[in-house]
Amino acid sequence: MRSDRTPRRAALAIALASLLTASAMPALAQEHPKKIRIGVIGAGNIGGTIGSLWVKDGHEVMFASRHPETLAPMIAELGPKARAGTPEEAITFGDAVFVAVPYKAYPDLSKDLASSLAGKVVLDAGNATQKRDGALFDEVQANGIGTTSAKYFPGAKLVRAFNAANYKIFAKAGANGGKDRPGGRMAIPIAGDDPAALNVAEGLVRDAGFDPVVVGPLKDADKFAITSPGFGHEATAPELREKLGLGK
Ligand SMILES: NC(=O)c1ccc[n+]([C@@H]2O[C@H](COP(=O)([O-])OP(=O)(O)OC[C@H]3O[C@@H](n4cnc5c(N)ncnc54)[C@H](OP(=O)(O)O)[C@@H]3O)[C@@H](O)[C@H]2O)c1
Repeated sequence: MRSDRTPRRAALAIALASLLTASAMPALAQEHPKKIRIGVIGAGNIGGTIGSLWVKDGHEVMFASRHPETLAPMIAELGPKARAGTPEEAITFGDAVFVAVPYKAYPDLSKDLASSLAGKVVLDAGNATQKRDGALFDEVQANGIGTTSAKYFPGAKLVRAFNAANYKIFAKAGANGGKDRPGGRMAIPIAGDDPAALNVAEGLVRDAGFDPVVVGPLKDADKFAITSPGFGHEATAPELREKLGLGK
C-alpha cells in the first residue's frame, strides 16, 4: 500500500509545485525583467547619458566611437557591463541599437552601417537643427523626422526615442531608476511603425528610469520633434498624454 501511495503523493506535490511556480512567474518576470545587450552609436552627451542609465539598470552596453580607445575612462567608471567598440561592433553586439549622433552624420552612417542595421530594433535619438545640420534640416522640414530617419536606415525597426529634452534633464530625471523625481517618473514620447520594436523601446525607456508614452507611428514623431509644441516637456506620462492630446 505504502509503496503505491508515495509515488502518487510525489506526483501530486510536483503538480502543485509546478502550478505554484507558473502562477509566480509573471511576478518574477516583472521583478527581474530581461536584460539585453545594447549597442550605443555615438557615446557623446545623449548616448553616454542614456547608455549609462541602462548599464546602471543591469544591461550590457557597448558604446561605439570611431575611436573606441577614447572611451576608456567612461568604461572604467561604469564597470564590467560596459565596453567600447566601433559602430560596426556595437551593431553586432546589440539586441537593440541606440543611435545618438549628429543628424548631419546620417548620410555617412547610412552608407557605412545601414545594411548592418537592417532588421534591428533601432532607437533613434537624432534631432535636426538648422545651424548644425544644414541640408538635412531642410530635408526633415520637407518630409518629417521619422520619414527622414527611415530613409537613412532602410529595413531597421526604427523607434524615435529620447529626442524631446536635453541630456542633462534625462540624467537627473532617470537617476536611481527615476525614483527620486518629485511628482513621479518623467515621460518619454516614442513613435514607431513596428509593434514589437515599440515594445522593446518601451521596456528600455522604463529601464532607463522613465515612463514611455507611445505617440503613434513613425510619422507622428513630428509631434515631439525639436521646435514642435510637443518638445521639451518635463512631464509625467498622464501629463504628457494630455499635452499631446492623446487621451487617457
Ligand atoms: N544633447 C542633447 O541633449 C540631445 C537631446 C536629445 C537628442 N539629441 C540628439 O542626439 C544626437 C547626438 O547629440 P549629442 O549632443 O549627444 O552629440 P555629441 O555629444 O556631439 O555626441 C555625438 C557622438 O556622435 C559620434 N559621431 C559624430 N559623427 C559621427 C559619424 N559620422 N559616425 C559615427 N559617429 C559619429 C561622436 O563620437 P566619435 O567622435 O567618438 O565617433 C560623438 O561622440 C543629435 O542628433 C542630437 O540632436 C541630443
